[in-house]
Amino acid sequence: MDQLESKKKHWETIYNTKKLQEVGWYQPVPETSLNFIKATHLAKDSKIIDIGGGDSFLADNLLSQGYTNVSVLDISENAIKRAKDRLGEKADIVTWIVSDITTFKPSISYDLWHDRAAFHFLTLPEDIQKYLVTMQTAIKPNGFLILGTFSENGPTKCSGIEIKQYSIEELKIAIPDAFKFIEGENIDHPTPSGSLQNFTFCKFQKI
Ligand SMILES: C[S@@+](CC[C@H](N)C(=O)[O-])C[C@H]1O[C@@H](n2cnc3c(N)ncnc32)[C@H](O)[C@@H]1O
Repeated sequence: MDQLESKKKHWETIYNTKKLQEVGWYQPVPETSLNFIKATHLAKDSKIIDIGGGDSFLADNLLSQGYTNVSVLDISENAIKRAKDRLGEKADIVTWIVSDITTFKPSISYDLWHDRAAFHFLTLPEDIQKYLVTMQTAIKPNGFLILGTFSENGPTKCSGIEIKQYSIEELKIAIPDAFKFIEGENIDHPTPSGSLQNFTFCKFQKI
């Protein structure tokens, strides 16, 4: 099994075996993401993509706030199925993409690229580079990038896999010069098991 297959298998197993509320990232209202998105003042028909969205509630919340052009990408088919089942008829409004982000070839451009806790799984420089090239190409001029990763004070693993931590300063360095830094914040995400995970959230705008 190559590296891509084993990554996919890992995530399919997670979404096959763990219930919605058993995963550390469970959060019915992802407040930090929603606040960062709101602060972009983008129109409700803007094209928004959630990278590694899994079965998170970001799409549900965006739809209830009136956003009409939401895409969710995830490596796991099971995750996408779970999100679709939960959303019922509303799932038809969302564009669902099953893909590894490192092989994703976007067919449209986006006003907003959101990623909470997917980018940090990329630890090999070549994978990080692929992500950044795809992201930079896919975001429209003046479009936004919102990234949430575990911080330098956060966990070193997520769902049993080693991740790469980023401080705000490290994210500023990692993101290509075609983007200007708008704001950054460290927040504690409370997991369903009661622990806190310190995140770095940053917003950038494509120049
Ligand atoms: C920690 S979960 C976070 C889920 C969601 N973003 C949230 O914050 O609630 C990480 C998600 O990223 C997805 N993922 C991990 N590696 C990926 C990759 N290389 N390409 C696309 N999705 C990936 C997983 O399937 C999982 O749904």
